[in-house]
Amino acid sequence: MSSEITNHGKDFKTKLSDYQNTVEKAIDHLLPAAATKPTRIHEAMRYSMEAGGKRLRPILVMATAESFGAKIETEPAAVAIECIHTYSLIHDDLPAMDNGDLRRGMPTCHKQFDEATAVLAGDALLTYAFDLLSKAYSDNPPLALKLIQELSSASGSEHLIGGQMQDILSEKTEATSEELEFIHLNKTAALLTTALVLGAILAEASDETITRIRQIGQNLGLAFQIIDDILDATGTTENLGKNIGSDATAHKTTYVSLFGLKAAREKAAAHTLEAKKLCQRLTRQTSFLTELITYLENRIT
Ligand code: IPE
Ligand code: IPE
Ligand code: MG
Ligand code: MG
Ligand code: MG
Repeated sequence: MSSEITNHGKDFKTKLSDYQNTVEKAIDHLLPAAATKPTRIHEAMRYSMEAGGKRLRPILVMATAESFGAKIETEPAAVAIECIHTYSLIHDDLPAMDNGDLRRGMPTCHKQFDEATAVLAGDALLTYAFDLLSKAYSDNPPLALKLIQELSSASGSEHLIGGQMQDILSEKTEATSEELEFIHLNKTAALLTTALVLGAILAEASDETITRIRQIGQNLGLAFQIIDDILDATGTTENLGKNIGSDATAHKTTYVSLFGLKAAREKAAAHTLEAKKLCQRLTRQTSFLTELITYLENRIT
């Protein structure tokens, strides 16, 4: 959303759904039209991007940018990070990885189309994220470069991909608690942290602020993935819109398998509390972020 539109004064749920609507519109506006040739790849990209989902990462970009007073448009950065996230889900669901057939309440990309199309749709969304950033912020090259560096680093082999690799390796040999933290920090927390950081970069926040924001992101990200592990064991397909029980079926090491449900919940609560405390230390209006962090701890979707 444009940073001029302020959300102050509205209740949390209204703000959340306002942000979600803004993201849906921005996705529609910024992705290549489905009729673009070859139509099959563009239809598949839009199919997965328009299937819904919580839109958490783009919302974190926009809310952080708003908190820190960004004066430029935030939608392209918000859509770019959702492209990366959606690509990671399309590939995560492939038979070679988690083998899911349901995502965001719809058949997964490879079920709706086929595996080759799903691989290519993921590749295309990954590339498109950087195409979008490089073009949308081309009138401010230093800012564009910062955004691209931040998002590419979080998505690469030392972070998101590295976490996904280690996650797959943890199916064969049970991960230690250190390895499990590495997996969660990289496959999930890295991109969530970058969502906050992209917002801060758009608002030209200081390096000191960005360092603090990274600590919030790590705690939020760990809590988020621990809850995801808990929901895989305890949630419902109807609420989550994706296959449940798949971690146990694949013999993955998760916070639930390693520590049990009760300890996993306690760890999620501790990271949530830490993220909220760190948020309150930022010298900005971060009430929406704080409420969002609380909301995520109690989510069932
Ligand atoms: C699912 O992410 C994958 C994880 C990193 C746990 P989300 O739970 O944010 O999925 P959507 O975007 O709402 O579908
Ligand atoms: C996926 O983690 C994280 C990424 C896609 C990077 P999971 O495999 O636990 O996510 P879900 O449960 O399928 O959404
Ligand atoms: Mg996975
Ligand atoms: Mg999965
Ligand atoms: Mg999961």
